[in-house]
Amino acid sequence: MNKIKNNSLRLNDVGREFIFYVWVQKKRDLGGVCFIDLRDRSGIIQLVAREGEVYDTASSLKSESVLKVNGTVMERESKNPHMETGDVEVELSSIEVLNSSLDLPFEIVDDTTALEDTRLKYRYLDIRRNPIKNNLITRHKIMMATRKYLDEEGFIEVETPVLCKSTPEGARDYLVPSRVNKGKFYALPQSPQIFKQLLMVGGMERYFQIAKCFRDEDLRSDRQPEFTQIDLEMSFVDEDDVMTLTEGLIKKIFKETKGIDIELPLKRMKYDDAMRLYGSDKPDLRFGMELCDVKEIFKDSSFQVFQNALGEDSSIVCIKVDGKSEEFSRKKIDALTEYVKTYKVKGLPYVKYENGEFTSGISKFLSDDEKKALIEELELQDKDMLFFGADKKNIVYTALGALRLKLGNELGLIAKDDYKLLWITEFPSFEWSEEEGRYLACHHPFTAPLDSDVDKLLTDKAHCYSKAYDIVINGYEAGGGSIRIHDEGVQEKMFKALELSSQDIEEKFGFFVDALKYGTPPHGGLALGLDRLTMILAGTDNIRDVIAFPKTTSASCLMSDCPSDVSEKQLEDLSIKTVK
Ligand code: AMO
Ligand code: AMP
Repeated sequence: MNKIKNNSLRLNDVGREFIFYVWVQKKRDLGGVCFIDLRDRSGIIQLVAREGEVYDTASSLKSESVLKVNGTVMERESKNPHMETGDVEVELSSIEVLNSSLDLPFEIVDDTTALEDTRLKYRYLDIRRNPIKNNLITRHKIMMATRKYLDEEGFIEVETPVLCKSTPEGARDYLVPSRVNKGKFYALPQSPQIFKQLLMVGGMERYFQIAKCFRDEDLRSDRQPEFTQIDLEMSFVDEDDVMTLTEGLIKKIFKETKGIDIELPLKRMKYDDAMRLYGSDKPDLRFGMELCDVKEIFKDSSFQVFQNALGEDSSIVCIKVDGKSEEFSRKKIDALTEYVKTYKVKGLPYVKYENGEFTSGISKFLSDDEKKALIEELELQDKDMLFFGADKKNIVYTALGALRLKLGNELGLIAKDDYKLLWITEFPSFEWSEEEGRYLACHHPFTAPLDSDVDKLLTDKAHCYSKAYDIVINGYEAGGGSIRIHDEGVQEKMFKALELSSQDIEEKFGFFVDALKYGTPPHGGLALGLDRLTMILAGTDNIRDVIAFPKTTSASCLMSDCPSDVSEKQLEDLSIKTVK
């Protein structure tokens, strides 16, 4: 007799006898006849046990027991159109309980009410639920599609070390103490960046890896301390080559996991334009509501807040919500004001445009000229709502970008099954760090500046742009990369721009800078966040839902209770003392 997967059974199997290896999902005992939903990875099939010994065994089964069942496929009397196997059931001929189960901490159902902490503690049970199981299958499909595509494109999969040298630029490193070299530490890789570039120096030409990365940073719903990248690097390429190759990969992944055809080439938008229009370097293009610069309109404003924002480094920006002014109660506006304040603006001026008049909010400050200009430039229609931001440029764009997203979500403007992909290009090379009082690399210190901006590395960091690109899907940064510096002289300029001393450079990257001197080909690459891609394709905004055994936002595993104390002996071996 053949083993069979539940979900394959259909009417044309009626009369055939199979062996099933299954879990007990649910039991309905009607006295004398017992129906049981049997579950395997593929799905559910209904079992029926009528009278006699099989009925007695069936009716005494506990949920989540594991069974070996022999049975014959029968046509159901009352069919269930909501089940793929709803036309048939299995008439039980023998049943063997392979293992029983304790009472469950939560029911194995799709829409569980169990707290996430409970689900994480019993993750192996959570994985039995369709939503998590299906996410892991989606993840698998993405990995398979990736390996197939990149292999066909001539890429070689190479593993790079997990015990690495600590080069703290970017996020904080996870450190691993060395027992053999007392007092010294390895770092877990934040990405295989340096190694993949060295593989290009090594003449591999096209590398990829599905690589585990580790970053000790503050966690959010789309970040984990250990996560996975689809990491690739190519020699003799420019930005276009890497982007085109990646687009092909993304197209294949969407097709093979969701059956969706992505239209290529993807839209491209420069970083500065993305910030100006969406207040974000990862704009969600599933809805409009672009930001609009209205500084010129308010150059003679009588509203103090606008007057204060007329300087060179400030902006006055506006968001228009079409035809929804009546949906914004005082209470709602106050809540939005509190929300944008978390992005460092000090308030949220607004006006409503109703029956040809500007009402409420700051309408009393508007001159006739300003009103006319707003109506014309923003093409105002009845019941439009305007929100303003007036502050330092970096603050106001970020705040209104966040407001745009919040409004998009709350007003239901975002279609869940829509996918909007684009590239963001020409990132600045540097970002100013208030904390460190110096410029830091926006991407990483190996990212090439635009050919036209090489000289700005040392003379005009604020306006130096790079050959970096991010791929953005539905407002998520799904991946990012760049063309690298392959010229030792430019690399030195870059380190100098980052104010790294020769000693710093030698200690942190000496081996790498040396390698660049031995015939390094021009090269570039990118890494996609596998977890984020899976989230997007699985339609969840919780990264933990797409990782088999994830960490909580406090970077711990509730199932294995890690991180945990270690024994005195272990610490002694490592010559480590902990301070509690
Ligand atoms: P980057 O730091 O942009 O680039 O990372 C690439 C992609 O990895 C994903 N990602 C994360 N996913 C989950 N949790 C995290 N904590 C996390 N951090 C990053 C994102 C991101 O776009 N070496 C470069 C790539 C290159 O230049 O080739 C790099 O690591 O989706
Ligand atoms: P007020 O004059 O305090 O009633 O504020 C009028 C409007 O301007 C309100 O919508 C406030 O949220 C907003 N507002 C007040 N102060 C500031 C500020 N410093 N920056 C930005 N908006 C402000």
